[in-house]
Amino acid sequence: MTVHPATQKIETPRLVLREWEETDKEPFARMNADPQVMRYFNSVLSRAESDQFIDRMQEHFRIHGFSFWAVTLKEGGALIGLAGLARPRFEAHFTPCVEIGWRFAPDHWGKGYATEAARAAMAEGFSRFRCTEIVSFTAQDNAPSRRVMERLGMQRDASDDFDHPGLPEGHALRRHVLYRMPQDSWARLIPV
Ligand SMILES: CC(C)(COP(=O)(O)OP(=O)(O)OC[C@H]1O[C@@H](n2cnc3c(N)ncnc32)[C@H](O)[C@@H]1OP(=O)(O)O)[C@@H](O)C(=O)NCCC(=O)NCCS
Repeated sequence: MTVHPATQKIETPRLVLREWEETDKEPFARMNADPQVMRYFNSVLSRAESDQFIDRMQEHFRIHGFSFWAVTLKEGGALIGLAGLARPRFEAHFTPCVEIGWRFAPDHWGKGYATEAARAAMAEGFSRFRCTEIVSFTAQDNAPSRRVMERLGMQRDASDDFDHPGLPEGHALRRHVLYRMPQDSWARLIPV
């Protein structure tokens, strides 16, 4: 994995993770308008909401040094999704924290890209940003996302399950699972 600190660019065998560019807005909006992609979120996003999300991610880079990166294919350079680190704005029993997250266009599911990108993002979180723990959470029925967490070696304790405060009581997606990766567990998985 190669990191380019000045440009926030991370290379993996098949992918480049980088900051967001104006030309990402159209393909990112297409992805966020797809009900398949947004099945485990509250709703699909309009073009304006998707563009604002990119602005917020760029702002997060400026404030924290990290954010969700735009994930592109090394071959051809197409934007295929996002993966990276963020500080959630809501309060829960595990916040403040650094979370790891991902979202990919369906044409690029089932190829290991999410796990490849997330592993690189997690390595950045521990080595460059000195995180002591990275968590991930999702609606409890989001099996594909949970599989990514498990492939990364993250661990779930059912006593950490929580109701997402951003969703109203009774909402079908409100119950969330939490997975954790403490720094020392990562160091055991990836010997330096
Ligand atoms: C969550 C999400 C990113 C998972 O995508 P994914 O393609 O299943 O995950 P990966 O990229 O890690 O790919 C793993 C799959 O590719 C397969 N695969 C194929 N080639 C592979 C390779 N070279 N390396 C690793 N895995 C490979 C694996 O067998 C695995 O399939 P399986 O889960 O059926 O066993 C995707 O479903 C998504 O974007 N969902 C919508 C957004 C979302 O819900 N995000 C999470 C919110 S918390």
